Amino acid sequence: MVRSEGARQIGDAAGAAPEGAARPAPRHVAIIMDGNGRWAASRGLPRFEGHRRGVEAVRRAVRSAITLGIHYLTIYSFSSENWRRPPSEISELMGLLKLFVRSDLADLHANNVRVRVIGDRADLSGDIAGLLDEAEARTRANTGLTLVVAFNYGGRQEILRAVRRIAAAVAEGRLRPEEIDLPTITEALDTAGIPDPDLVIRTSGEHRLSNFLTWQTAYAEYVIEPGFWPDFDHAAFLAALDEYHRRDRRFGGLSAGAG
Ligand code: IPE
Ligand code: IPE
Ligand code: MG
Repeated sequence: MVRSEGARQIGDAAGAAPEGAARPAPRHVAIIMDGNGRWAASRGLPRFEGHRRGVEAVRRAVRSAITLGIHYLTIYSFSSENWRRPPSEISELMGLLKLFVRSDLADLHANNVRVRVIGDRADLSGDIAGLLDEAEARTRANTGLTLVVAFNYGGRQEILRAVRRIAAAVAEGRLRPEEIDLPTITEALDTAGIPDPDLVIRTSGEHRLSNFLTWQTAYAEYVIEPGFWPDFDHAAFLAALDEYHRRDRRFGGLSAGAG
């Protein structure tokens, strides 16, 4: 999970475009948007300012994904464990989500973006759950980029909900235990119908998954970006894709051309 030697840093991807452009983009890129608080602290600003600037980085990432021909972009916006933060920060994050949906939904829709939300909506306040429902409903028929917003999301909690759904089907006699296969589980997850991520980018240099897409990332490639999320820009996106294209994805088999 370490950047390979010679990997480009944020803002230093000028030479990456031709290489990146020559190859098909990964179908699904998932991003752990981390480091808003440290970005702010390093400038003597309140954490909120980092989150606010983080929303601008989300807008840039969506534009980049569209430009680069990526089909699915998943953004980790609020984890099941983020409730451990102080109430004031939680309410700031909830406020920013509301602001984002209210101010950007029309623009996303105009850009043919389809919004999907994953995570547990049962625990969310009615106004937030309503806005998330509205974002999905309004963009459902769009055919461009699918923007998957992971909000109140935890990979283990998602698997738990899926297990309960499958167990209920067994208990009601609609499914026999021996009929449960990998697609049964995949289709019981919040991400039903969404292909597994090819590439997971985590900003701020942390080498961990933090309960993100636990089931879906079994064969994802990881690129760790040392910069903080509010600084993530198109050049950083290109640099991550460049590194992705240097990887040899074997899926347990052999390299193409080997053997
Ligand atoms: C990512 O930035 C945003 C969320 C997790 C909601 P952080 O808030 O985690 O910033 P750091 O990691 O404390 O710098
Ligand atoms: C992961 O970041 C969650 C999101 C980006 C929403 P955290 O900052 O919450 O993760 P940890 O606590 O450093 O593992
Ligand atoms: Mg963090």
